[in-house]
Amino acid sequence: MSKKAPSTENKTSSSGDPSRLAPSKGHNLLKLELLKRIDLFKFLPEETQKDLVEKSSELVLEKDDILLKEGEQDEEINFYVILSGHLLIYKGDTFRKRIAILGSGEYLGEMTLVDAQAHSASAVALDESILMVIPQDLFEKHIASDHGALLEMVKVFSHRMRSDLDVMAGDMQKVSNFTHDMRNCLVPLGYADVYLAKAVDILKGTDPRHKKREGWDMVEKSFNTMISVRKNLITLIDQSLACVKKTKSEYVKAEAQVLPLIQETVDEISCHKVLKKKNLVVQENADLKSAHFNFLDIKRVLQNLLINAGYATENDGIIEITITEGKCGNQINVKDNGTGIPLHIQPILLRENFTNKPDGNGFGLMSCREIIEDFHLGKIWFESELNCGTTFHFTIPHFDPAVKPPGIKAR
Ligand SMILES: Nc1ncnc2c1ncn2[C@@H]1O[C@H](COP(=O)(O)OP(=O)(O)OP(=O)(O)O)[C@@H](O)[C@H]1O
Ligand SMILES: [Mg+2]
Repeated sequence: MSKKAPSTENKTSSSGDPSRLAPSKGHNLLKLELLKRIDLFKFLPEETQKDLVEKSSELVLEKDDILLKEGEQDEEINFYVILSGHLLIYKGDTFRKRIAILGSGEYLGEMTLVDAQAHSASAVALDESILMVIPQDLFEKHIASDHGALLEMVKVFSHRMRSDLDVMAGDMQKVSNFTHDMRNCLVPLGYADVYLAKAVDILKGTDPRHKKREGWDMVEKSFNTMISVRKNLITLIDQSLACVKKTKSEYVKAEAQVLPLIQETVDEISCHKVLKKKNLVVQENADLKSAHFNFLDIKRVLQNLLINAGYATENDGIIEITITEGKCGNQINVKDNGTGIPLHIQPILLRENFTNKPDGNGFGLMSCREIIEDFHLGKIWFESELNCGTTFHFTIPHFDPAVKPPGIKAR
């Protein structure tokens, strides 16, 4: 951790505290060599490069000193070249999502130099690091006022943008290939459907040539579960492929009672490894009006909340699902008597990917938030007390003809 309050102290280290900004003494040849290798500066005349080196200063960071803080704007804007040491570039505050580790010859601060916006990520020293500091006025003197130099810089940024886009497109293609082939993997289940349907008929005695056999109802239930899981998976895979292809599709909602969906979901998900030994209780409520929702997506929300509750609760713990009638719609509450959520994590849940599970992804709650708030125009929130438990609440509005659906959007 940083020695003091992270951002402000060290922001001054880069832009205000003179004790930390020593005038450059020596190493000028080394600095010049570094500058010549930096894409943003290598096109400059040697005289200009020398001037940048001579007029720059040095900044020494100790391990854990924070140089830049995500979301903050510095009063003085600088460009930094790392002369020695390493800086971690990360997003997030309490939990750092690593973006890159930069070392000698690499640089940072160039985006802020151009757009003067708040930093898009934070930077912290991983060990004692020495940086060359080029202040904005020096940069402007040599680059921003020189059309040729500016054009070269635009070329560097545009090249970088193209290669970032290529990497993103490549990653997206890989994910799409997996998703696409998953659909093919589901094809054999179509055969199983046909055979199982025949087996159910035989066991059930529907076909007069066969006697009704004990256990037919269990086979039929498994058969129905398999069909519905296959259908749901194909729907999700198709939505995922449509999202990649940017095909617009209507977000389908229907007017229905939410209780049967809750009961069905609880029934299906109770075999999950973290729920098998928990008591899942659904409180019925006879006074509920119907709500307007996408059946599969609300099932996904419930699955995520129930699995999370299962992870947080001890064996024999209680997970209770209640539905109340609000002014605008149904309110569903998933309450557990588990570990509770530590205070420092609470502000980031539902807003950022976060997980504290070795096998977790931190996607579940983000998916719930999108489904409830973006696609149903409802709300999702939670209350939690350490060692007592957590309750997640979400609302599904009633059908209101005056409210435009979230739209026909590519998902
Ligand atoms: N009911 C709960 N009790 C305690 N902590 C919870 C509860 N629900 C969520 N959390 C915390 O929120 C974090 C984020 O949950 P989320 O569902 O987004 O991701 P995850 O469960 O870690 O992984 P996955 O993407 O596989 O669902 C969890 O790792 C856990 O720390
Ligand atoms: Mg989860």
